Amino acid sequence: MEGGGGTPPEILEESQAGCSLPTGLGANGLKKSSWGFFLTGIVGGTLVAVYAVATPFLTPALRKICLPFVPATTKQIANVVKMLHCRRGSLVDIGSGDGRVVIAAAKEGFTAVGYELNPWLVWYSRYRAWREGVQDSAKFYISDLWKVTFSQYTNVVVFGVPQMVIPADRLEAYCEKHVSQQN
Ligand SMILES: C[S@@+](CC[C@H](N)C(=O)[O-])C[C@H]1O[C@@H](n2cnc3c(N)ncnc32)[C@H](O)[C@@H]1O
Repeated sequence: MEGGGGTPPEILEESQAGCSLPTGLGANGLKKSSWGFFLTGIVGGTLVAVYAVATPFLTPALRKICLPFVPATTKQIANVVKMLHCRRGSLVDIGSGDGRVVIAAAKEGFTAVGYELNPWLVWYSRYRAWREGVQDSAKFYISDLWKVTFSQYTNVVVFGVPQMVIPADRLEAYCEKHVSQQN
């Protein structure tokens, strides 16, 4: 007799073979739990990424010596480019930040180099240079400006913060040692 109640044969077979899942982990439960894992992964991954990127920017505030990144404005970049029009040779930007000065100089045909303490900014600068197609003439190094000699560069750009300034009484000695005499 049709509609006589009882369990349909296919369900009976499944549960008899021990294949049915516990109520909480049915098809729906599994779907929910994998979404849960996925969401946790996304949120966790995002937090780790934000932390990794933000730390180098935030830790200066906690250091004894702060290293703030204040990018040059479009007008300042235009001024640098204007000054470069009557110059030749190589260029170095000391504390190159996100690489905008170096990239602008490379676009003007200079072999340009940036030294920057913040590794994230250096990697970002390299990416920008690659994106702008000047990766061969724009190079970036993770380095402390006090540990580098700039004597091989013909043009030196510094958009500094107070921590990058040499006290007046040490300036002459520093230039004699580190800056090219041809400038
Ligand atoms: C005012 S920002 C200028 C950034 C870039 N030159 C521009 O014009 O957009 C100064 C940069 O110098 C970097 N800096 C500070 N002290 C440094 C050091 N001792 N060695 C290398 N870079 C340093 C900072 O991390 C920051 O990115």
